Amino acid sequence: MSALDDLRRGGVVILDYGSQYTQLIARRLREQQIYAEVLPHHAAWERIQQHAPRGIILSGGPSSVYEEGAPRLPRAVLESGLPVLGICYGLQLLAQAFGGQVSAAARREYGSAMLRQHGPSLLFDDLPASLEVWMSHGDHLESLPAGFIPLAESDNSPYAAIGHAERPLFGVQFHPEVRHTPQGSAILANFALRVCGCVPRWTPAAFVDGALESIRQQVGQERVLLGLSGGVDSAVTAALLNKAIGSQLTAVFVNTGLLRLGEPEEVVRVFRHEQGVNLVYHDASEYFLDALQGVYEPEAKRKIIGRLFVEAFQAEAARLSQAEGVRFLAQGTIYPDVIESAADSASAQVIKSHHNVGGLPADLGFELVEPLRDLFKDEVRRVGEALGLPHAIVWRQPFPGPGLAIRCLGDLTLERLDKLRQADAIFLAELAQAGMLTGETAQCFAVLLPVKSVGVMGDNRTYDEVIALRAVVSDDFMTADWARLPYELLARVSRRIVNEVRGVNRVVYDITSKPPATIEWE
Ligand code: XMP
Repeated sequence: MSALDDLRRGGVVILDYGSQYTQLIARRLREQQIYAEVLPHHAAWERIQQHAPRGIILSGGPSSVYEEGAPRLPRAVLESGLPVLGICYGLQLLAQAFGGQVSAAARREYGSAMLRQHGPSLLFDDLPASLEVWMSHGDHLESLPAGFIPLAESDNSPYAAIGHAERPLFGVQFHPEVRHTPQGSAILANFALRVCGCVPRWTPAAFVDGALESIRQQVGQERVLLGLSGGVDSAVTAALLNKAIGSQLTAVFVNTGLLRLGEPEEVVRVFRHEQGVNLVYHDASEYFLDALQGVYEPEAKRKIIGRLFVEAFQAEAARLSQAEGVRFLAQGTIYPDVIESAADSASAQVIKSHHNVGGLPADLGFELVEPLRDLFKDEVRRVGEALGLPHAIVWRQPFPGPGLAIRCLGDLTLERLDKLRQADAIFLAELAQAGMLTGETAQCFAVLLPVKSVGVMGDNRTYDEVIALRAVVSDDFMTADWARLPYELLARVSRRIVNEVRGVNRVVYDITSKPPATIEWE
């Protein structure tokens, strides 16, 4: 067993019943150094056992336990004797298994509630007797299941938390994993540490040690190729592989000409000069620009860019394979991409493939090395820090695969792209200066609009281009709200753009949330 496999044992397995919050449960535990693995609720027991969990969490979910065909609690879970914590739907499953009565509540309970504990319990150890919690349920527990005692109540839920009198089985009606339950992380930690006896050892440093060993084991003396995009995931993959196998790695960076100001230079500086990575710089910007002439439709742009990117990468891959023989392709796949979520629906898949532009197809003929497969994005960033990557790269905001092509509306010319790059750089620099680029906002950028407007500069009338600024706050990029940036900051950015970017005479700020708008304009 590899060191990494060993590190992933002895944690908690979360069975996913389709709640939108399931991944959050894993993140909250891992933030506290407890390894948590999300598996579909119908996972075979052997698969669960591979992780040698010390406890099992049953997630929430949209179903009703009393409906026909509703997902069930696998019998092996209770037979195993392992500690179990049921959350929302999970509580109802647990209750049902012990003969408790679950039914539709008179009205759905949604929002904050005060939880009042009845007495001491391991689950609420060291926590105040009353706590704010987040409720979101339509069904509720009407009668206690056999062998259980009530641990806490809220105004609307007499059984807001229950526990078995003798066995390590717990259920909570509320959601400890969401931020609206301020002490939720402590409740999950109590379950993992005090009930299950997990040992907190899932740290960035332990992960790096395990990953280095795993990579070396997998790769041996062979050569590995990596597509470096400048984004966080591929950057951390590069740093990890470079540390593990050094000169056996070749990273290929394709400059599409659609990147932000100074980005290609930064990638070369950081990876070639600072990290000492074998870096091949492939400048395909002219090809991209040529192919995008006269293309205005966003999906058509995505298709062209996706195709050209793969062609450019393949050309380098073929050249390198011929020269030195390459067996492996490294990819920055991360955990949310691998989780087989019970909530995955056909539409969720469509969104994913649409956003996959700029990636590589799976069938390039190499074996895959995916060292970040186990990590959430925030963990990738912490590993990046542990590997000594610069803050600016580790905390970079997401940038779409098609790059500036979907932010330059209208004619895609080098001149217009440069205008956009300059305006964007001013916006980002001012945000960074104000400390609003990481943490405060999720994504910020400039868009060059396909309209001209009239202005006046000095004594002259101008007829020039318009820049729209977009800044959003978001947890998951599925929904987003426009950032309430300070007026002074917006005023400074507007003044600087109009003064410094030739050919732009107007700046507007996008105040639309998602939905109904999207974050990008195309
Ligand atoms: P939207 O605009 O759909 O964007 O609200 C949500 C998130 O996805 C990013 N995005 C993309 N990422 N290829 C990508 O790699 C794409 O084609 C693409 N389109 C949108 C967007 O920047 C935001 O973070």
